[in-house]
Amino acid sequence: MVVANWREGSGWESPELLPHAAIPMSPAMVGLHYGQVIFEGLKAFRRADGRMAVFRPEDHARRFRTSARRMMMPELPDAVFLEALDELVRQDQGSVPGDSSATLYLRPVMFASEPDLAVRPAREYRFLLIAFVTDALFGREPRPLKVWVNEDHPRAAVGGTGSVKCAGNYAGALRAQAVAQDNGCDQVVWLDPAELRWVEELGATNLFFVRTSGRSHELVTPPLSGSLLPGVTRDSLTVLAGEMGLKVLEDRVSVGEWQDDCRSGRITEVFASGTAAGVRAVGQVRTAGASWQIADGSVGPVTAALSEALQGIQYGRRPDSHRWMHLVD
Ligand SMILES: Cc1ncc(COP(=O)(O)O)c(C=O)c1O
Repeated sequence: MVVANWREGSGWESPELLPHAAIPMSPAMVGLHYGQVIFEGLKAFRRADGRMAVFRPEDHARRFRTSARRMMMPELPDAVFLEALDELVRQDQGSVPGDSSATLYLRPVMFASEPDLAVRPAREYRFLLIAFVTDALFGREPRPLKVWVNEDHPRAAVGGTGSVKCAGNYAGALRAQAVAQDNGCDQVVWLDPAELRWVEELGATNLFFVRTSGRSHELVTPPLSGSLLPGVTRDSLTVLAGEMGLKVLEDRVSVGEWQDDCRSGRITEVFASGTAAGVRAVGQVRTAGASWQIADGSVGPVTAALSEALQGIQYGRRPDSHRWMHLVD
C-alpha cells in the first residue's frame, strides 16, 4: 500500500510504499468519530499487449479533491495521487492475469487521523492507496439486475454530500440495500431527496434509460442534481454513445414514467454504470405496489454495444481516441 500523511503547517509528506498491513490509530481519531473520510475507486487493466493501464486516473484524482473540499479535508495534489497509482500498479501487476479475467481495483482513501474529540476539521490526515485483484466478468455476461425502488429513504439530502464520495453516504445506504434484498432484489434505486419521485442512481452506480422510437435510440441519464455522484463511467458512456450515433440527453425520469414507458415500449433498455459494475443491464423493477419488466428482461443491444466499446478501450482492443488510458511503465 502507499501511505502519505498531512499535518497542518507542514502539508503532505512524501508518500511511501509499504506492505499491505493493519494501521495503528488512536481510539480518539477524528475520522472514526465524526466521519471525515473520503475514498475513490478506479481500475487498472492488463491490455492485450501485456502492459497495465489505469482508466481515467486524472478524473478520479479531481473527484478525490472535490470530495476533500466538501468535507473540509486537505486536497491531495493530482501528481501525488497519480504517482501513488503508478507505484502500486507496478508493484502489484504480477497478480493480474493476461487473459482479461481479472482487473486491479485501486482504492484511495483519506481520513482524519488526529486524535481529538472537538467537532472541527482535523489538523492531521492520512492518505492510503490499497489494491485488490477482482473478477472482470469478461466474456460471461452477468444476468440482468432486479432492482427495488426505495420510496421511503433518499440516499442523499438537498445540499448534502450525495455528489461526493464520503464514507457516511455508504453507511447510510446499507439499510435500504437490505430492504431491497428482503424484497428479492439485487440493488436499490435511489430517488431524488426533495420529492422522492425522480430516479437518481442505483446502489453505487449511475443509471441510463434507452428510449426507442422506430429504429432510433436515445440515451437518457438523470441530470447531476447535486445529490447523485458524477460517475466517470457515466461520463465515458455518454461520449461513446454519442460516437455511436445515439442522441444523448440528461433528463429527469419519474418512477411513474419509467413504468408507463416500459409498458408502452418506449423504454427498451435500462442499465447501470460504474467502475466496479462496468455496464450492467437492469431486467426487472419492483416498488412497494408494482413490478414490471424492461422489454423481455434480457441484455439489450445498446447496453451490449456500450459495454463492448468501453471494455475495448480499457483492454486496449480499440483505439483510445480520448486518451482515457494511462499506461504504467
Ligand atoms: C453512489 C455512486 N454512484 C455512481 C458511481 C459510479 O461512479 P464511477 O463510474 O466513477 O465509478 C459510484 C461509484 O463510484 C457511486 O459510489
